Formats: sequence, structure tokens, C-alpha cells
Amino acid sequence: MTFKLTSPLDMHLHLREGEMLKTVAPLSARTFAGGVIMPNLVLPVDNENRLREYETAVRQACSPHQFEPYMTLFFKNYSAKFLEKIRDRIIGIKLYPAGITTHSEGGVDSLQQAQPTFAAMQELQIPLLVHGETDGFVLDRERDFLSNYAWLAKSFPRLKIIMEHITTAAAVDFLQLYENIYATVTVHHLLITLDDVAGGMLRPHLFCKPIAKRPQDREALLDAALQAHPKLMLGSDSAPHPVHRKESSCCAAGIFTAPIALQLLLVLFEKYGKLDYLQDFVSDNAQWIYDITAPKKEVRFEKKNFSVPEKYGDIVPMFAGEELAWHLVEP
Ligand code: NCD
Ligand code: ZN
Repeated sequence: MTFKLTSPLDMHLHLREGEMLKTVAPLSARTFAGGVIMPNLVLPVDNENRLREYETAVRQACSPHQFEPYMTLFFKNYSAKFLEKIRDRIIGIKLYPAGITTHSEGGVDSLQQAQPTFAAMQELQIPLLVHGETDGFVLDRERDFLSNYAWLAKSFPRLKIIMEHITTAAAVDFLQLYENIYATVTVHHLLITLDDVAGGMLRPHLFCKPIAKRPQDREALLDAALQAHPKLMLGSDSAPHPVHRKESSCCAAGIFTAPIALQLLLVLFEKYGKLDYLQDFVSDNAQWIYDITAPKKEVRFEKKNFSVPEKYGDIVPMFAGEELAWHLVEP
């Protein structure tokens, strides 16, 4: 049995820089037709030079695979003039509350003070991508942030707002409240809860931001993904860290799923008899939401056991050493 996907897109992806970029980029580019590239590098992507340099490095690292990097800028208060100049080079601007996750120290302290930039983005039709967590109690951070999304959605009704990597039932419900609110969801949040991370032995390779939540949250995310909720799209948030940063007394947040993200979704959608909805979830919804046309690329998978490598370079993937029932057919 084989299954074909057309132009799968990963709408939230960390590719890093340097050697790490060279290791991970081909692992996305061999299956995905494109991806939204996150700007939270050690030196954030927040000016034109940096953006050009990084885009070139990403394209080089993905070559010869066909892969469109949809670039983003790291949110700060930009002038309307600058945004107008840069708008055709980016798919959106990613906002991090200051200090909330990996390399986000230069993020936003006050949404109020960012109003002129939001207004300019709205006029120029530049989507706003948001890491929506407060600095409150870890399990409540996403739910507590929803009031900020409500303020943004109401204040800037023509601004496209993407709630990145949603993890709660409350966020799924929130999608219905405002026309200009959309979301990405990761593969791992469809699969795990906090119990998998910390309910038994501590599993550093399952630790990420936002942290996996309760079973009822996972159920709500899964329900929405399996029916390819039109305002929801895949964003793997594949976030590689070298093994010594994960297996450490201060474990870095991030799960590396890029090489197996689509295979895991095949297993999951097949299990629930929803394979017919997978194409929408991994590509068509994103193209509609962002109003883009992805490069045409057909990827085939076959129902054949595949054992996930223990490591890619010095990065341990999710499900390292375990068997998956779907396998990529190399072109
Ligand atoms: C991401 C990273 O490592 O860059 N980590 C994560 O746990 N998801 C940052 C992020 O998206 O929060
Ligand atoms: Zn991320």
C-alpha cells in the first residue's frame, strides 16, 4: 500500500544555522515542498541583511531538493517604510514574548507599544505569527495568553494572526471566535501529554515549549486535525538541539520531528480512518490560509516498517530507535 501527498508544507520550522542547518535542512526538504522558517537564531533575523544571508544559507542547505523557504522576521517595532520594503521577502513576522522560549530574549515586553507595527502589518497584509504564552504557571500559559489574542484580533481585524503550536482545547475553541485567527499544531502535541514527558521517568527529548498538556487537550487538538479544521494547519515546530543540550541538568526545549513528521501523521490519520483529510491538513489549508501556491511536489510513502535512527548527526529525533509503520519512498 502506498500513499501520495502533494506539496506538503511545514508551517513552523526551526532550521538553525551552520552545521546544524546543514544536518537538518535536507531532512525537511526531502519530504516537504516548503516551510515557514523561524527567525529565533542566536542573532535573531531582524534586518534585511540578516534575512538575505539566512535565506541564502537555507536555500543552499536544502539544495538539490525542491523546497521553498518561507522566511520570517523576528518581531520588533519596525517602521512602515522598512516593512513596505521587506514585505515581498517574508511570509510573516514572528512575535515572541520576551524570554518565553529558546533565543527569545529580544522579544516583546508590551503589546501596547507594538501597536504601530501591528497597524503597518495590517495595511501591508503581513501575517503576524505568535508564540502565545504568558510567563505564568506553565500549564496555564497558553490559556492565559488568549486574552491577548482577543485584543489583537479585535484591534486589528484585517491582520492575519496565527496562533503558533496550539496545545489546548481552549485554543481550538478560540479559533471560532474571530475571523482573522488561525493556528498551527505540531505532530507531537497530537501524540503526547504531560504524562509522557514527566509522568514516569523524565523524557528530555519530549520536552518542548509549549509543554504538552492534559489528555482532554490532546483529544481536542486531534479531533480538529483529523477533520482538517480549515483554520488549522501543520507546523511541526521541529526544534533540534544537540544531544548534550537535551540530556542535561538544564534541558533545552524543543522536539526534533522533521524527518518523521509526515510518517507519524500517516500512522495517526490511518489509525482513525481519516487519511482522506491528511492532504488538507498538511498542505491545502496552509495554502488557503496564507494565500500562497506551494511548489508542486509529490511525495510517496509506503506501508513498510521503518526504524527511526537513534541520531541524525548529534541530534536525537522523537521516537529514536522505534519502528514506524510508514516509510518514505525515495524519489
Ligand atoms: C523552540 C526552539 O528550540 O527554537 N523550542 C520549542 O520548544 N518549541 C522555540 C519555540 O518554538 O518555542
Ligand atoms: Zn517553534
